[in-house]
Amino acid sequence: MAMSPIEPIRVATSLLLAGAAYIIVQIFNAALAERRRARCIKNIRGPPSTSWIFGNLLEMHIPQDYGEADHRWLEEFGSVYRIKAAFGRDRLVISDPLALQFVLNGEDFTFAPARQTFISWIFGERGILAQHGSAHRNLRSVLNIGFTAAAVRSYLPSFRQLSEVLCDSLEEKINKTASGTAPTVMDLIPFLNTATLGAISEAAFGCRVDDLSPDLVKTNSRVTEFASTVSASHVFLDEVLDLDFLPKWALTLAGRYPIGPALSIARDQNIFATADGTKIINHKLRAAKEGTESLDEISDVYEKIIHGEILGNPTPKISIDDLIGQTSTMMIAGQDTVATTLGWLFIALAQHQDVQNQLRHEISNIGEGDAYDKCPLLNAVIKETMRLWPVLPISFRIAINDAVIPLSQPILSADGSRIDTVPVLKGQLVTLSSFGYERQVSINYLVDGGTSLLKHMM
Ligand code: HEM
Repeated sequence: MAMSPIEPIRVATSLLLAGAAYIIVQIFNAALAERRRARCIKNIRGPPSTSWIFGNLLEMHIPQDYGEADHRWLEEFGSVYRIKAAFGRDRLVISDPLALQFVLNGEDFTFAPARQTFISWIFGERGILAQHGSAHRNLRSVLNIGFTAAAVRSYLPSFRQLSEVLCDSLEEKINKTASGTAPTVMDLIPFLNTATLGAISEAAFGCRVDDLSPDLVKTNSRVTEFASTVSASHVFLDEVLDLDFLPKWALTLAGRYPIGPALSIARDQNIFATADGTKIINHKLRAAKEGTESLDEISDVYEKIIHGEILGNPTPKISIDDLIGQTSTMMIAGQDTVATTLGWLFIALAQHQDVQNQLRHEISNIGEGDAYDKCPLLNAVIKETMRLWPVLPISFRIAINDAVIPLSQPILSADGSRIDTVPVLKGQLVTLSSFGYERQVSINYLVDGGTSLLKHMM
């Protein structure tokens, strides 16, 4: 029997209605679950919210000064407090050491959805940061071959050479811009970025920056720029992704066919890093097969892994494709972290001339060999910089089970009682504040066994 023209319209309307009903039920269920989670942590104190769309997130993520809001709330509410996230959702911020250990090392929490999505877009599905459980542990143990103390020591000659090039370019810039006795003001960050990119390409891949494709070098610096300029729209995108309602295939499509500059940069980074990684690793494998390399050349992370794990091993723990898949991670994790940490270190030294003078004195007396290990002040300054200005001041997790988070010190709850555990329900988002944790610890690396090496840098 032929369908009347009215039938397709009816079918389409029914489908639309069914779709709309499904979405409404999903939203309703999500709202109910969110309410149950909020009830579970309502006894945790926190700042009042200023906006339904952003909650307290703009203050937390785009503070006037590094960590300012987190520090203020930590002082007021203690090492676990509650903030409002977007769309009226509640989020716990944790800096208690026992609670951090529980969340990071236990089985009840995993990376928050937004972070997982960004990681697979930028670093690729094979990247170590996108791996979990035993696959992650396995990859970690393989990458560690390139990061033992002995391995790191073998990168020193190229680091030293790159530092000399950095000093020469700084001197050249100062000589060009110096006027009379006035101090020269310049932006150190581009110089540090160039030097750290050089260090990572030599130490990780055994090649010079010029051997990398200009496309990769360009996108890598765009990713680092993008990552260090958090805006309200970034925060909003994170929050939408954290609602976790988009199916995985839609996120994969969005990564592959990006809309907007942020997603395009992420996709390009992944494509260019995979292409360069393939070139670098194939070159190394060919050289090893033809015997055209000398063992002295085994001085970079990839080379060490190829020789230590892949060649001559019938059951290597890593495949060639998985090793190629670490290239984007190495580029970003290696360059931005070191350049940013050095940036903070130089700010601290500029503000503490006394520390700077003593450090100059210590460094000018360095000999050859393992002399860096024998520089207590240099090591203390590096550790103190990483403690006070960690490159990853906050990170995000979600509860995959109901859990009871233990605290090392009781906190004051909203009803005035002291509590030493925080129960949470599955789906609870938490912000882990390494910034808050590091500021609370009693360690000060510039104080050695009770004797102040120098006064605090803060
Ligand atoms: C000042 C220097 C550095 C700091 C402060 C730093 C900090 C961190 C932090 C906090 C994480 C954990 C990220 C997370 O779980 O979300 C991490 C992971 C990682 N970093 Fe670094 N990093 C530095 C330098 C480097 C360098 C030079 C490389 C490599 C060339 C590197 C490679 C990695 C890798 C591969 C991971 C993933 C490890 C895993 O998932 O098991 N990092 N780094």
